[in-house]
Amino acid sequence: MSEQISAFSHVDSAAQTGALVEFLDRTAADHFGEINRRSFDLLHLRDGAAVLDVGCGTGDDVRAMRAEVGARGCATGIDLSRRMVEEALARDCNSTFASRFLVGDVRSLAFADGAFDACRISRVLLHVDDPETALGEAARVVRSGGRIVAVEPDFDTLTLAHPDRATTRAVLDAFCDSFAHGGVGKWLAIWLRRLGMSEIRCEPRIVPIDAGFLRKGFQIEQMAKRACELGAIDEERRAGFLRTLDDLAAREEFFCAATVLLVSATRP
Ligand SMILES: C[S@@+](CC[C@H](N)C(=O)[O-])C[C@H]1O[C@@H](n2cnc3c(N)ncnc32)[C@H](O)[C@@H]1O
Repeated sequence: MSEQISAFSHVDSAAQTGALVEFLDRTAADHFGEINRRSFDLLHLRDGAAVLDVGCGTGDDVRAMRAEVGARGCATGIDLSRRMVEEALARDCNSTFASRFLVGDVRSLAFADGAFDACRISRVLLHVDDPETALGEAARVVRSGGRIVAVEPDFDTLTLAHPDRATTRAVLDAFCDSFAHGGVGKWLAIWLRRLGMSEIRCEPRIVPIDAGFLRKGFQIEQMAKRACELGAIDEERRAGFLRTLDDLAAREEFFCAATVLLVSATRP
């Protein structure tokens, strides 16, 4: 893909929306399999439940939850992007039980207080201007006794084994800062506590990132260029950093990992 993943804040005006869909499919398969399954478990879905997935993307997770709530249940996905909602509807057309997909903004959900038994928000808050308010909206639409689950990375702790530590820090900072809130993961439990949620449980996960994905998915070359433009590193250090990264990968001495926070709570 050649689209910046920070473009998830404005999918419909991104240059290559297809590349963003491709990124979601790749990461769902390679990085989020266990995390997603655990997030569904933590929602405590039962037959007949109404569940909402905020920022649902391609809708694959909505379909997975739909299967758990049965014929009497209801699964809804909302996404800011019309293009993503169209993709989700197209993928849903052969499902046994149809799901509901709507265009909507997490910052102002068009649902009544307590309208859902459970609400999930995954990989969305890092792209939103005011993520604490957005999380409050997601919590607002959960009924008393219902569950909320948030899954977000914390790119402040993205780690990469590279001998030039100063340049690595500058490049990884540029990557984290390319998002509206790249370090949002660390705040989820704190914000849920401020919202008065109970039974807050925080489950961190470390996700290995391979050299190909760091380059193509995380666009590390562009991030090094960005660090240069910001004046954090010079051109010589940028070129040397990327050269060494290639050498490390060729020698199979590459290591990179991202932290993902999986946080769940109950609405009192
Ligand atoms: C990285 S994708 C994650 C999709 C899905 N939740 C998943 O984990 O595969 C982020 C999604 O959030 C959507 N999004 C971004 N800002 C949003 C907002 N303010 N309200 C609702 N959705 C938003 C994007 O359009 C995109 O589909």
